[in-house]
Amino acid sequence: MKSLVAFTGSTRSASFHTRLINSLPALAPADVQIAFFDLSDVPFYNQDLEDEAQPASVVAMRAAVKEADGVIFATPEYNGSFSALTKNTIDWLTRPMRQGALMGKKIMVIAVTPGPGGGQRIAKTMNDLLPLFGNEIVSTVTSPTIHEKMAADGDVVTDSELAEQLRAGLAAF
Ligand SMILES: Cc1cc2nc3c(=O)[nH]c(=O)nc-3n(C[C@H](O)[C@H](O)[C@H](O)COP(=O)(O)O)c2cc1C
Repeated sequence: MKSLVAFTGSTRSASFHTRLINSLPALAPADVQIAFFDLSDVPFYNQDLEDEAQPASVVAMRAAVKEADGVIFATPEYNGSFSALTKNTIDWLTRPMRQGALMGKKIMVIAVTPGPGGGQRIAKTMNDLLPLFGNEIVSTVTSPTIHEKMAADGDVVTDSELAEQLRAGLAAF
C-alpha cells in the first residue's frame, strides 16, 4: 500500500483544487491511499517557532509527510506564481534545512484554472523548485476551463481526458 498526503493551496470554500483532491480516491489505483491534510490551523512560517514549542498543526503536518510515501500539491496559480498557502506549506516542510519532511518525497503537482492558462506557470515553478529538495515529480497535471470539467453537484471530474490524466498521475507513484 502506498500512502499519499494531499494539500490544497486554496482555502476558498468552493475551491477547484480542494474539490479535485476530493475526487482523487475514486481515480486512484487500489494500492494507493490518499489522506487530505487540512491546513487551516497552520500559521505563517516563522523561524522563531522552530526552536521553541512548534505549533501542534506544524508537528502534525510534518509527521504526516514524513510517514507518507508521496505528496500531492493541488495549487492555484496566483499572479503567475504560488498561492501564499502553497508556498507557506513548502516553507514549513523544507525546514530545518536539508532535514525537512519533504526531502526526497515523490510528488504529484496539480494546477488548474477556470481561464485558458491552465496553471502552467505555477506548475513549471513547482517543477523547477522541488527537485532542489531531492523530490521526484512523478506527474504534473494542468488543465484550463476547469469549471466545465467537474460536476456541478459533486466533487467528480466529468471530463474524461482530465480524469485519465489524474488516474495516470496517481498510478505513477
Ligand atoms: C489573487 C489571484 C490571482 C490569480 N492569478 C491567476 C493567474 O495568474 N493565472 C490564472 O490562470 N488564474 C489566476 N487566478 C484565477 C484562479 O485560477 C482561480 O480563481 C482559481 O479558481 C483559484 O483556485 P481555487 O478554485 O482552487 O480557489 C487568480 C486568482 C486570484 C484570487
